[in-house]
Amino acid sequence: MVMDVMAAAARIEAAGGQVIHMEVGQPAAPAPKCAIAAAHAALATGRLQYTETLGIATLRARIARHYSETYGVAIDPARIAVTTGSSAGFILAFLALFEPGDRVAVALPGYPPYRHILSALGCEPVAIATTQATRWAITPDMLIAEHRRAPLKGVLVASPANPTGTMMTGEALRDLIDAAEGEGIAFISDEIYHGLDYAFAAETAARHSDSVTILNSFSKYFCMTGWRVGWMVVPESLVRTIDRLQGNLAVSVPTLSQIAAEAAFDGRAEMEAVKHGYEANRRILLDGLPKAGFENILPVDGAFYLYAEVSRFCDDSFDFAKRMLEETHVAVTPGVDFDPLEGRRFIRFCYAGSQSEMHEAVKRIGRWLR
Ligand SMILES: Cc1ncc(COP(=O)(O)O)c(C=O)c1O
Repeated sequence: MVMDVMAAAARIEAAGGQVIHMEVGQPAAPAPKCAIAAAHAALATGRLQYTETLGIATLRARIARHYSETYGVAIDPARIAVTTGSSAGFILAFLALFEPGDRVAVALPGYPPYRHILSALGCEPVAIATTQATRWAITPDMLIAEHRRAPLKGVLVASPANPTGTMMTGEALRDLIDAAEGEGIAFISDEIYHGLDYAFAAETAARHSDSVTILNSFSKYFCMTGWRVGWMVVPESLVRTIDRLQGNLAVSVPTLSQIAAEAAFDGRAEMEAVKHGYEANRRILLDGLPKAGFENILPVDGAFYLYAEVSRFCDDSFDFAKRMLEETHVAVTPGVDFDPLEGRRFIRFCYAGSQSEMHEAVKRIGRWLR
């Protein structure tokens, strides 16, 4: 559905219209300057060869250090696997953990590729609908009830989440990990939006267990979507499997991107400034959208997403997004992409753009809905 919105936006732009893009979930800012400089220097040598299958050793060590610096959690660099974005990490994780036919729980609303990759691998994604009552998260009760209905082999959660931007508290995360591991259900934690937390500090699943599989990426906090580089933290027992899978599927991750990624950790001050920009954008939307008539907005805890109910205005968020684009030139994503059940009632705004765009979007939408 978002592709249709993007195509319509492109037509408006081709005709000279000024579209405010809030539909695509990626930072507008560039990668840290030190990452770009490191890539230039590497290119200048003219030699970019395969690396170790699980990633350049110094990058893996730097990622492990990130866990001790950020969360106070010690991780053995041997448990870090560098991946081609977290997207490739999902494929590796699912291949390593599951067999065709296995049932794996994911939250609705949620990032669609979880379900699609699982289906493509012959697994069965089991969508668990979340509500306001559980702060839009899967709870131990929900997980166990589904497991009793038919055994689950895995559960995947994201905090901060896409499309909602909501986060699980440290206790909620711990309780769900305990419930899953108590039943032998593999726990996968998508932590790709870590670093972009505003309501409270995001908690890593690594604090609670060495048996969880964690996905992360340089795409969002470090503004490196196109570099296609991410990482996994895997249980010790899975390291060899992930090594063999990645060796066969990809040999290794693009070397230039790994070199830039390692340098990116030195660009945190620059990225914190970008984060402060998102925080300002978040405040502009949280002030302006309710005034424009959006009465139900999910907790805007982290990432750069705001998920708002539109059922006051219409019963089809795709139609709403289309009309809003045509009449205000503000592009958003209809919720049906993230939730085939309730998504008709919601749209997602991405607020990774500039403050002036946020002010302008709020103004245009307010005028349109008045
Ligand atoms: C929740 C979530 N997980 C994973 C990804 C994949 O990102 P990447 O492959 O760039 O790391 C995205 C991208 O938007 C996402 O929103």
